[in-house]
Amino acid sequence: MYSILTITGSPSAVSRSTLLAHTLDAHLEQAGYATRTLNVRDLPAQALLAADTADTRIAAALRPLASADAVVIATPIYKAAYSGILKTFLDLLPQTALQGKIVLPLATGGSPAHLLAVDYALRPVLNALGARHILSAVFAADAQISGDAVTGYQLSAEIADRLHASVRELNAGVAASRPRVQPVERERLYA
Ligand SMILES: Cc1cc2nc3c(=O)[nH]c(=O)nc-3n(C[C@H](O)[C@H](O)[C@H](O)COP(=O)(O)O)c2cc1C
Repeated sequence: MYSILTITGSPSAVSRSTLLAHTLDAHLEQAGYATRTLNVRDLPAQALLAADTADTRIAAALRPLASADAVVIATPIYKAAYSGILKTFLDLLPQTALQGKIVLPLATGGSPAHLLAVDYALRPVLNALGARHILSAVFAADAQISGDAVTGYQLSAEIADRLHASVRELNAGVAASRPRVQPVERERLYA
């Protein structure tokens, strides 16, 4: 089964970008993917700040990334870039951590003016980590998410549709990455 690791990068316990990630994960599970979630805010802060990969909880958090076929990365936009805690986690990764993987970035921000922050701030980091195929990012402005941190958040229909479109894009990426060698051809190649 195709496995997906979702990494959430908001420091907030009740978070818009995490809702985006959880909603996408629910769609992915319906589509037959196996999903796992890693909330960076649950990792030990001291180990993150000290880039301590020997810490047992950090080491355990890094393990599922190696076996994931695709990675979803959700972040709030902070100061026109992705969040600082996400950066502390990305800095712990080996240089080839995303090699051969499909990556889908998700972001929420207060201002649509920072729609492109994922492309100019996060995308180069994902490239540097070897991501093979970075899908179109999903960005939701806070105005497209109703509710608050006390009552909980709700996505607008527009954003919900956008997430469904991402699942379709991911399906296409997965189909394109599967070996195209036909059985007869395989027999000839490996005889
Ligand atoms: C410290 C801080 C910095 C922020 N900087 C920006 C920013 O530069 N651009 C923007 O559009 N929104 C900015 N925001 C708003 C958040 O990106 C937005 O509310 C987001 O939906 C929060 O996501 P979360 O609930 O997952 O943490 C900032 C919020 C905080 C707390």
